[in-house]
Amino acid sequence: MLRTHTCGELRISDVNKHVVLAGWVQRQRDKGSVLWIDLRDRYGITQLIFDESKTDAALFNAARALGREFVVQVEATVVERLSKNDKMPTGDIELKVTKLTVLNTAKLPPFTIEDETDGGDDLRMKYRYLDLRRNTVREKLQLRHKMAQQTRTYLDAQNFIEVETPVLIKSTPEGARDFVVPSRIHHGEFYALPQSPQTFKQLLMVSGFDRYYQIVKCFRDEDLRADRQPEFTQIDCEMAFITQEDILSTFEGLVRHLFKNVKGIDLPSVPRMNYDEAMKLYGSDKPDTRFAMKFVEITEHTKGKNFPVFESAELVVGICAKGCSEYSRKQIDELTEFVKRPQIGAKGLVYVQYRTDGTIKSSVDKFYSPEDLNVWVEKFNAQPGDLIFLMAGEAYSTRKQLNELRLLLGDRLGLRDKNKFSALWVIDFPLLEWNEETKRYHAMHHPFTSPKREDLHLLDTDPGKVRANAYDMVINGTEVGGGSIRIHDRPTQQLMFTHLGFTEEEAKKQFGFLMEAFEFGAPPHGGIAFGFDRLCSLFGGADSIRDFIAFPKNNAGRDVMIDTPSTISDEQLKELGILVK
Ligand code: AMO
Repeated sequence: MLRTHTCGELRISDVNKHVVLAGWVQRQRDKGSVLWIDLRDRYGITQLIFDESKTDAALFNAARALGREFVVQVEATVVERLSKNDKMPTGDIELKVTKLTVLNTAKLPPFTIEDETDGGDDLRMKYRYLDLRRNTVREKLQLRHKMAQQTRTYLDAQNFIEVETPVLIKSTPEGARDFVVPSRIHHGEFYALPQSPQTFKQLLMVSGFDRYYQIVKCFRDEDLRADRQPEFTQIDCEMAFITQEDILSTFEGLVRHLFKNVKGIDLPSVPRMNYDEAMKLYGSDKPDTRFAMKFVEITEHTKGKNFPVFESAELVVGICAKGCSEYSRKQIDELTEFVKRPQIGAKGLVYVQYRTDGTIKSSVDKFYSPEDLNVWVEKFNAQPGDLIFLMAGEAYSTRKQLNELRLLLGDRLGLRDKNKFSALWVIDFPLLEWNEETKRYHAMHHPFTSPKREDLHLLDTDPGKVRANAYDMVINGTEVGGGSIRIHDRPTQQLMFTHLGFTEEEAKKQFGFLMEAFEFGAPPHGGIAFGFDRLCSLFGGADSIRDFIAFPKNNAGRDVMIDTPSTISDEQLKELGILVK
């Protein structure tokens, strides 16, 4: 070994020891006759001291000539520091160096490798290997490591078996586009990279594996956002001979185990809310339940007063912002502009100020009497000092718009504390979702999800009303996982494909293998997959999953470090049968 200790290890009890350390030069402080160098490795920083009067001149000069990020090895004696630094674990000691070996030189790094760096996003991504030297970034990956370890510990103790499934497969319909890989041997044919191991884990249930999991890469060619990467990782799980109740309790157990063992937090048992209620109370299937500000519907109390916007609305719904009655006109206008942005698409915002002096003032005073407004205030259970915002229109889109306002106000009012965690199971999702573009129903989760038996009769008459045995786990407004109880017999699976607009031929071509497997004794089964990157970023208190991935893609789906996607040679294209000249 090139070292006897790490840079984070030595303490006052090690004084007088002869040690060998190796690491990177973080910084130098040159006081003329005394030179200090911070030596850094993954474990910490140790200060080296070179005193001109007590050090060999050649050694002193060699130390002075070191540059930032040089890789060096030192032989030294541990001494007590004169001025101690209680902010550093090694702050009581320093090393009196007797031998210095430069293991490698380094060019000046393009940004400073410290917790607060001067490097912009693009530069840090281009030199990601340098970015990863920074404590703050490395710590995020260490958290990820710990999460993976604890996941395995929990699932192993519950008898789950980790099985690897293939990466070169054919299309699985999770709702995104596939990344495809052309076959060299079979020109014109393609593999698809898995959007998830969904069909394989179901086949493993048919094989009798009973409890499967895998921490697995998934690939989806979709538009990127802060919480989406084209390749990401799932904790993918499946169980046989279970009910939905068993899945919810097993994986609530996993999440609570992670909170306990990674963050030392006792997460209370996870409440459940059905999809309809989540939409009604929060306008979202992934509500942030760290704060209340629930929706209140007052449609019936707004009619007959000639206010055209409310008169024609299917729904009039609002939220009460506690303690905001004194918001200025400017603040309210700004919120109105926010909801009118094209991304949100609301037509406007009505407000009712319940002032601290008990008077009520609204933007619709022309249409509604003080008595009318009093009724609203009561419905909202508002107190003097509160501000009510109302939106109106078609129910589904109005709720979605109000959700955006609720989240913004939650941010503004400091109600979305990153160190507070609120988990929720959202259950009873609709089975199907109408798609305006394709003018047909799509599976809301995926086509292998089972419908609720009691809703099956609606499949022909009112397909949008059929509920599924499907559930999501939501933490702080992020969907961290989702799953379902599956269909496990051929006729139901065939029926499902028919409702999704597949011809019998198409269904057979794409999923014949699964339907056939269902005819060889498939047990009842179900499962869930957690977005591992999302869980990690949530535990790390970050909005973006990028820093929890060692080598992420940027917002345009590029890896700017290795510069990909990139073109390939004509030779390769010919071999693959893509270029035929
Ligand atoms: P689903 O598509 O809901 O379910 O995915 C499961 C979880 O994976 C995470 N996730 C992502 N994370 C980062 N980047 C992405 N592009 C991305 N897409 C999804 C989310 C999500 O909740 N096979 C089913 C699971 C099952 O039914 O068992 C599936 O993949 O946190």
